[in-house]
Amino acid sequence: MSENKPVTAVVIGAGSRGKDAYGVYGLKYPERINFIAVAEPDQGRRRMFQEKHEVPDELAFESWEQLFKKGKIADVAFITTQDHMHYEPAIKALELEYDLLLEKPIAPTLEQCQHIENLARERGRLVQVGHVLRFSHFWKKVKEIIDSGRIGKVVHYEHSENVSYWHFGHSFVRGLYKNKADSNPLILSKCCHDLDLMQWYLGNPIEVSATGDLSFYKPENAPHDAPERCTDGCPHEEECPWYAPRFYMIAEALIRIGTETDKRLLRFGSKLLLNHRGFIKFLSLFIKPLKNVLNWQMFPATFLGSDLSVEGKMKALREGRYGLCIYNCGNDVVDHMISNFRFADGVTGTLIVHGLSEHEGRELRVFGSKGTIRGHFREYGTELTVTDLRYRNTEVVHKGRIELESGHGGSDFLLMDAFTSVLLGEKTVEEAGLTTISSAMESHYMGFAAEDSMLKKETKKIDEFRPQ
Ligand SMILES: NC(=O)c1ccc[n+]([C@@H]2O[C@H](COP(=O)([O-])OP(=O)(O)OC[C@H]3O[C@@H](n4cnc5c(N)ncnc54)[C@H](O)[C@@H]3O)[C@@H](O)[C@H]2O)c1
Repeated sequence: MSENKPVTAVVIGAGSRGKDAYGVYGLKYPERINFIAVAEPDQGRRRMFQEKHEVPDELAFESWEQLFKKGKIADVAFITTQDHMHYEPAIKALELEYDLLLEKPIAPTLEQCQHIENLARERGRLVQVGHVLRFSHFWKKVKEIIDSGRIGKVVHYEHSENVSYWHFGHSFVRGLYKNKADSNPLILSKCCHDLDLMQWYLGNPIEVSATGDLSFYKPENAPHDAPERCTDGCPHEEECPWYAPRFYMIAEALIRIGTETDKRLLRFGSKLLLNHRGFIKFLSLFIKPLKNVLNWQMFPATFLGSDLSVEGKMKALREGRYGLCIYNCGNDVVDHMISNFRFADGVTGTLIVHGLSEHEGRELRVFGSKGTIRGHFREYGTELTVTDLRYRNTEVVHKGRIELESGHGGSDFLLMDAFTSVLLGEKTVEEAGLTTISSAMESHYMGFAAEDSMLKKETKKIDEFRPQ
């Protein structure tokens, strides 16, 4: 442990990432990082952040402009606002000489991304983009195997981002990422992690050819008698996987994940919850915390607002975006897309993303001249194998269990460990495995090029998107 004082930080946007991912790390490791100020327009979230981090009123602001008027008051700024609101606070923070933890994607346009990159370089600031997967043991292991030469020369890399039906419905149909104009194309908002991994393993690609469509989550697919909202007495509530009250009140889809883990207690508890809700209700008369399980209080319920009582949540479903029929949400991002990249030496890489998976999780296969890597990185656990072509023996080289402490299979906290280790002077950027803003940009060039290729139905050279 470092003998230095903890890093000091300000958070811009105390939402799901600022408060519940990075903020929680600060609460758990106060000797490493201290959040001393917050900018957040939502009063409930701001108050909650203040209370947890003991931020006084004079350091709690409604917006980033007010916070930055104070000048530089901490070592680092966390920019955890929505996608279309990264650019302006990031530029201001860099002008004030803050180091940054900048959530991905960097910004919605190439010009804005490049401006942030140029300013960061000019000012010599550390900008870590929230590409958390690079820090997970699983994805690091893939890199280690490829670099070791164990599977020989890589010929093809296949990566699929299987977004579950419930997550896609929540975020990309009903939620904050449903319209390109308010966030980003799906390939950037959901897959810049995946592009970052592909580029990390294979280097910079030469060209991309992509195709995709919005073909399922749209009005033509709604049953003829489905009302505007789930709460309007929908005759399909029983069989519809996206029936909102079931999802936000009792988080059934998330509890199902618990039944598939190898943690026995969690499996038992999840089965009990799914099959014996009446019994749990009875027990909750004596064991108060069980009430929270019957009225789910965590993600995704937190998106309904700060009143998480049953009445408050039902009101949000009756009036807000998360109660709309899944086929009538005004969404315009594609619900499936395939991007084929070509790298030097004829190496190819395919990235598939879609929003109808039964399990949330990424899968990969890497084909080399001596062997194959296969793996899955799912919500309930991870596994990686290497098969040797000559003897056909398969070795399990990594196995991970469900990670409850921090998101993305524990990667959120691993990124924070690495980031704070550099700021605390424990490690160099290279030792900690941090990335520069310029290397993070590569995934964005790939994403912008893939989107352009899909829209124009033509192969795109990535160099067209890189600054010359
Ligand atoms: N690294 C990852 O794996 C990962 C995962 C999910 C989301 N993200 C990214 O993180 C970012 C935040 O996502 P989120 O899910 O936390 O969103 P969120 O909506 O929960 O949080 C954003 C917060 O910013 C606040 N805000 C709005 N205007 C503001 C202003 N003027 N000043 C200060 N705060 C303001 C909002 O009120 C909200 O609370 C997005 O860019 C998203 O794409 C990254």
